[in-house]
Amino acid sequence: MLPENWLIEELRDPVTGAPLEMSASGQELTGPGGGVVARVIRGIPRFVSDSHLESFGLQWTTFDVAHEDEDRRTFEAKTGFGLESLRGQRILDAGCGGGRYAQICAQSGGLVTAVDHSRAVDKARELCEGLPSVRFVQADLKHLPLEPAGFDFVFSIGVMHHDVCTRDVFEAVSRMVRPGGRYSVWLYRRNQWWQELINTALRSITTRLPAACLLPLCHFGAVLGGIPVVNRVLNKIVSFSAHPSYQNRVCDTFDWWAPKYQHHHTAEELKSWFAAAGFEQVQELPPEKAGTWYYRLWKWNLLPGSGVNITGTRRRESV
Ligand SMILES: C[S@@+](CC[C@H](N)C(=O)[O-])C[C@H]1O[C@@H](n2cnc3c(N)ncnc32)[C@H](O)[C@@H]1O
Repeated sequence: MLPENWLIEELRDPVTGAPLEMSASGQELTGPGGGVVARVIRGIPRFVSDSHLESFGLQWTTFDVAHEDEDRRTFEAKTGFGLESLRGQRILDAGCGGGRYAQICAQSGGLVTAVDHSRAVDKARELCEGLPSVRFVQADLKHLPLEPAGFDFVFSIGVMHHDVCTRDVFEAVSRMVRPGGRYSVWLYRRNQWWQELINTALRSITTRLPAACLLPLCHFGAVLGGIPVVNRVLNKIVSFSAHPSYQNRVCDTFDWWAPKYQHHHTAEELKSWFAAAGFEQVQELPPEKAGTWYYRLWKWNLLPGSGVNITGTRRRESV
């Protein structure tokens, strides 16, 4: 059965855009020809299964990394949306992972649709238990089973660079923003050429390792991430997290080394995508962390794992 906060009319065939119907069993969504387009499992309509994003399913269902105060600050910094502006707004969390930002948006009064390709949606739903204004769908952001231009705010934090082609995901998601609505995207930043070279070489190995081999290495990275000085110097060469929580450090380090695809981008590139997709007031958001040295290293593209972060408003005449 679809949960109460989903209406069948709001979902559509992700490829043809055709309306869907609920099967007699209440567990399948069918297209006009009667073929099964999606299944409803544990109250979530599922249009895809994990595929190349399986590492995220494992990651988000294994680690508890939500910290509400920190997540609120990060959400505001990485979207440029003030939490007080979200009440009653239709919000799309494009690539919700374990649901930490969907939770923050729903707590702030937003009407949230949270999408992820992986079984992370199960963890996200668990985290958002008791928040009726958030609902989930397991789907590919490139083929969303949703009405275009149906959202006031759309954000995507650390997601699109994990697909075969980042821009394809960016464009598909951009079509969900209503004219006059806001869109914010955070992607990995392109680092210095020597960092990119080392990273690509190492990831060509780590992305092939089974999780049982990679996880112990991530625990080792998390130990290094807790050692002062080491956690500021060595991780400019080999990326590992220096987050204050050990569990977050393991999760973030796995998040870096496991996914099959990880593309890095420049702010100019991302800004040009916004402009080409019909957005105005396109701005680069500053990094969340403060400090003169942090800012300089970020500007010189020396911080692996740091981002390019752009926000824009969809032109009213752009649909
Ligand atoms: C690094 S996690 C970020 C999760 C969340 N935004 C956060 O910051 O906590 C990236 C997530 O994007 C999802 N993802 C990547 N490509 C996707 C796609 N094409 N469609 C849907 N989800 C996708 C992955 O499954 C994963 O859960």
